[in-house]
Amino acid sequence: PALTQDELKTLVGQAALQYVLPGSIVGVGTGSTVNKFIDALATIKDQVKGAVSSSEASTARLKALGIPVLDSNEVVELAVYIDGADEIDHQGHMVKGGGAALTREKIVAAQSLQFICIADESKLVKTLGQFPLPVEVIPMAAKRVVRQFAALGGVATIRLKDGQPLVTDNGQIILDVTGLQISDPLAFESQVNQWPGVVTVGVFAYQKAQVCLLGTAEGVKTLV
Ligand code: A5P
Repeated sequence: PALTQDELKTLVGQAALQYVLPGSIVGVGTGSTVNKFIDALATIKDQVKGAVSSSEASTARLKALGIPVLDSNEVVELAVYIDGADEIDHQGHMVKGGGAALTREKIVAAQSLQFICIADESKLVKTLGQFPLPVEVIPMAAKRVVRQFAALGGVATIRLKDGQPLVTDNGQIILDVTGLQISDPLAFESQVNQWPGVVTVGVFAYQKAQVCLLGTAEGVKTLV
C-alpha cells in the first residue's frame, strides 16, 4: 500500500538523523515534519549537546523529550539546521512560515552552516508562489505592506486565529500573500526586505537549503 503523507514525514524525519554530528548542537525548525525529526532525535539524545529551537512549539517538544534547548545567543555557529518547508524548488529556495515561525527559523538557519530541508514530495515545486507567502510584519505597517504587495499583483490578508489577528512568538502579525509568481527568489527576498515594517519575508533564498530529503513513494530521495 502507498505510504501516507504522515508516514513520508516520519521517513524524512528519521533520515535527517544522519546529518546530526556526535556531540553537536542541532538547529531545529518548526512544523509537523520537524516534529517527526524531534521524535527521532530523542532516540539519540545522549549523543548530542542540545538544540537551538526556532519556536515556542518546538522548544516545548524538545524539552518534553529531554533534549536541552540552548539560547541562540549562546551559540556562534551550528553545523546543521533541520527544518521543513511549505514549498521548495529544485534549487533549494523555499517558502516557509505556514506555522508562523519564519523569523526565528531564518535566524537559526542563518547561524547554521548547512540547511537540511525535510519534506514530503507534495512540497516540491517548479516555481515558488502557489502556497500563500507568509510575511511577518509590525502591525503599524500592515496596510502599507498590503498595498506594496498589491502593486506586485499580490493579495495580502492578515492571518487570523480564533477570529483575531494571529500574534507570533515575536509579538507581531502575519500577512499571507496569494497571486505571486516568485521567479527570482533572491531578488524578491531582497526587495521585500527593504519595505519598512517587514520583519521577515517567508522566501528563504539567502538561507536556502543545501540538501533536501524528500519523502516519495519510492522512499527518501536526496536532492542537493
Ligand atoms: C513553520 O513556520 C514553517 O516554516 C514550516 O517549516 C512549514 O510550515 C512546514 O510545516 P509542515 O512540516 O507541518 O508541513
